[in-house]
Amino acid sequence: MNEPSPIANCNFCGKPATEVTGLLTGNGAAICNDCVTRYQATLAQLPRVPAPRPREQFVVPRPAEIKQHLDLYCVGQEQAKKTLAVAVHNHYKRVQQILQHPEGDDVQIEKSNILMTGPTGSGKTLLARTLAKVLDVPFAMVDVTMLAEEMGGQVDAEMILLRLLQNADYQPEAARHGIVYIDEIDKIAHQMAGSDITGNRYGKRLQQTLLKIIEGTVCRITVQDEERFPKPQVIRLDTSEILFICGGAFVGLEKIIQRRLGRSTLAHTQKNAIAARDEILLRVEPEDLLQFGLIPEFVGRLPVIATLLPLDENQLVAALTEPKNALVKQYVKLLAMEGVELEFTPDALRELASQALLKETGARALRGLVERIMLDVMYEAPESTNPVHVKITRPVVEGKIKPVVQHHYWGGTS
Ligand SMILES: Nc1ncnc2c1ncn2[C@@H]1O[C@H](COP(=O)(O)OP(=O)(O)O)[C@@H](O)[C@H]1O
Ligand SMILES: [Mg+2]
Repeated sequence: MNEPSPIANCNFCGKPATEVTGLLTGNGAAICNDCVTRYQATLAQLPRVPAPRPREQFVVPRPAEIKQHLDLYCVGQEQAKKTLAVAVHNHYKRVQQILQHPEGDDVQIEKSNILMTGPTGSGKTLLARTLAKVLDVPFAMVDVTMLAEEMGGQVDAEMILLRLLQNADYQPEAARHGIVYIDEIDKIAHQMAGSDITGNRYGKRLQQTLLKIIEGTVCRITVQDEERFPKPQVIRLDTSEILFICGGAFVGLEKIIQRRLGRSTLAHTQKNAIAARDEILLRVEPEDLLQFGLIPEFVGRLPVIATLLPLDENQLVAALTEPKNALVKQYVKLLAMEGVELEFTPDALRELASQALLKETGARALRGLVERIMLDVMYEAPESTNPVHVKITRPVVEGKIKPVVQHHYWGGTS
């Protein structure tokens, strides 16, 4: 402290060293004792930068708790929800182990990333998103084919991680425990469904790129966000504790599984075509995915396979009404704000489900159908001065009549 300072003045107030009691120096600059005192008060008043949330401890929910939560949002998919609940529980147990024993424990739990197969609109994205919510970790979703198209086949793993980092408010300590959902993974198979049609021309290279981050590596990610940082920043992100979930529809996978199983299984499942199809789908093995065109190293890194099944009519009815944010609940709420009571009759719901089923896009079709029916009601509701009751019946869904509107008058409806 008493060594003569090479810097002669305080860089803040400009006083020479000879006029102050002390001059703190460092990194080519100096500050005097008066300024330290003065700025201490100012510092205390500065808005706090949100602290990174490094977790010392993860409260890992039990698989049954995770599943219960998934049940609140997602209809059916019992097998997939169970598989995911166990896999996610194990993953965060592993994270917890690493946090508690950073020097290494005697038994190392290996990382298990997840592959989700299931037709469009069966709940893949919904489940991945809900898992991140249950665990309260950052989440990012990328569509790998879209990314490849945008970048002319040169998918940079960095781009995927950047999304996660953004959603983690640029806190690598939070992002490293996040969940990344990589969609349309089936589209980068390098050959399709055992036929001689070649799949995505970038497929193999894309799989290799993804492999690196999925396995676990330290990436240097360049962040350019003028609102947050004056200059581009390079943030290091270790991916070894990120949970990667890859998903895809895998059209044609059923035939591959069926071929492997042979005719024997066909015989005793023939009683019900839908049950037979589901049973076959649930028996997927890694070798079927190799057949589909995923490379062995990639399949090897996705040891957990969760199979989602096409939703049937009953499940589509349930999807309309039961989940926490079910479509029907949303419309009821919206209209209640306008003093309008909304009712869907059971046969109207069934008709909606049956129309959706024909579109073969799973629960995804429901929204468009309901929106079309509700358009006029939503348009007119805010105009009504009396409380009204709107009933959506089967003929309404069939487009034969307009929604049934009853006005509440004194002493009842008319
Ligand atoms: N099993 C399900 N239960 C309830 N809603 C579902 C289910 N599957 C899909 N949906 C709804 O359908 C829409 C599309 O679902 P999404 O998860 O994106 O399907 P996928 O990713 O399998 O194509 C979403 O609005 C979602 O809430
Ligand atoms: Mg999806």
